[in-house]
Amino acid sequence: THTLSQTMKSALTFETIAKCSTTKARVTALTLPHGLVNTPVFMPVGTQGSLKGLTPKQLEDMGCKIMLNNTYHLVFRQDFKRPATCEYIFISNLQIDGQELLDEVGGSHRFQNWSGNLLTDSGGFQMVSLLKLAEITEQGVQFASPHDGSMMLLTPEHSMSLQNSIGADIIMQLDDVVSSLTTGPRVEEAMWRSIRWLDRCIAAHKRPETQNLFAIIQGGLDHELRKTCIKEMAKRDTPGYAIGGLSGGEEKDQFWRVVTLCTDLLPRHKPIYCMGVGYAEDLVVCTALGVDMFDCVFPTRTARFGNALTRKGTLSLKSGKFAADFNPIEEGCDCSICRQYTRAYIHMLATRETVGAHLITLHNVAYQLRLMRDMLEAIAADRFPAFVKGFFNDYFKTKG
Ligand code: GUN
Ligand code: ZN
Repeated sequence: THTLSQTMKSALTFETIAKCSTTKARVTALTLPHGLVNTPVFMPVGTQGSLKGLTPKQLEDMGCKIMLNNTYHLVFRQDFKRPATCEYIFISNLQIDGQELLDEVGGSHRFQNWSGNLLTDSGGFQMVSLLKLAEITEQGVQFASPHDGSMMLLTPEHSMSLQNSIGADIIMQLDDVVSSLTTGPRVEEAMWRSIRWLDRCIAAHKRPETQNLFAIIQGGLDHELRKTCIKEMAKRDTPGYAIGGLSGGEEKDQFWRVVTLCTDLLPRHKPIYCMGVGYAEDLVVCTALGVDMFDCVFPTRTARFGNALTRKGTLSLKSGKFAADFNPIEEGCDCSICRQYTRAYIHMLATRETVGAHLITLHNVAYQLRLMRDMLEAIAADRFPAFVKGFFNDYFKTKG
C-alpha cells in the first residue's frame, strides 16, 4: 500500500498570474526544465519526434514552448529492435535498439535538436487505440507488434524506463484506458488499476529531479469513480494531473461535467492537463472550466486532409471553390503561410503535392497557438467572458 510520507519530487514551478473573475479560467507560469510555459497552452503532437510536415525549428519559430511526443512511436520503430527493457519473443534481426539509441544521443531533446519542453505519453493508450490486438492484464498492456506480430508487454516499469531514456520534461503514467462509451464494472476496474499502476510508475521513476511524472485521472463518465480516483491520486502528490479517458465520442455535456468535477476537486496549485482535446470550441470551454494544458493530433491531422482552421470554422481547401480565391487562408493571420500564399495556390498544391499539407499544417498550428494566446490575454485583462462570446459568434456564424 501507499505511504503518504513519500512526497513526490518535482521539477517544475507553477504560479497563477491571473484569474478570470467569472469563470475558472486562469493564466499561469509553468516553469519546466526547458523553460517557461505560459498556460493555457496547446501542445502540438510530434508523433515521430517531429510534427508531420514540420521541423522542430519551424515549431520553435512559431513560439511553441512545449511539444508532445509518443513513447510508442519513438521507441517501437519498424527499423528498431525491441527495447531491451521490454519482454518479448525475439524475432528481430534489426540493428538498433530504440532505447539504446536515445541513451547514446542523450535523449529526445538532443536527438530532435529541440530546445523547448517535451511531454511524452506513456505508450499504453496509443497501443490500445492503434492496435486492435492489445490486451490489458494486471502486469501491463500486451500487444502484437504491428511490424512482425511478435508479442510484447508494456508494463508501468518499462514505460517509465523508456520515458526516462527519452528524457521529456513531463512524463505520463501508464494508465488503463477504456473508451468513454464503456459502462459497467470494467470502468471501475480500469480506474483502480490506473491507481495501482501509478504507484508502480512512482516507484520505477529514476529521474524525478528532471522529469515531472503526471498522474492520469480515469473513471469514465461516472462521477463517483472520478471522485475516488482524484482522492487517491491526489494523495500521491504528483507534480501535475491529467484528465484522461475523454473525447471518445461521449456527449458534450457529459464531457464538460466530468471536466468540471475534476477541476473542482483536483489541487488548484498544480497544472491540470486534459488529454486528447483539440477542437477550438473544446479548448475555449475547457479553459473556462479551469484546464491549463491540452494536446491533440486534430489540427495537424486535419491539415493533411486539406482542412484549414479559421476563426470562422474550417475551410476544405481541396474544394474547387477556392481555385480562384486569392485571399490568404485567414485574413489577419500572422503565420508565414498567410503572409505569402493565397487560398488558390494552396488549393492547387493541396490537391497535387505533399507540400500543400505542410503549408496548411503550419497555418493550423499557428491558428491553435494564437487561439491559446488570445485566451491568455483575455483572461489577463479580465475580459475572458467577452472573448468567449465573440469566439462563438464568429465560429458559428453562417458563412457568407
Ligand atoms: N490520450 C488521450 N486520452 C488519454 C488517456 O486517457 N490516457 C493516456 N495515456 N493518453 C491519452
Ligand atoms: Zn495563417
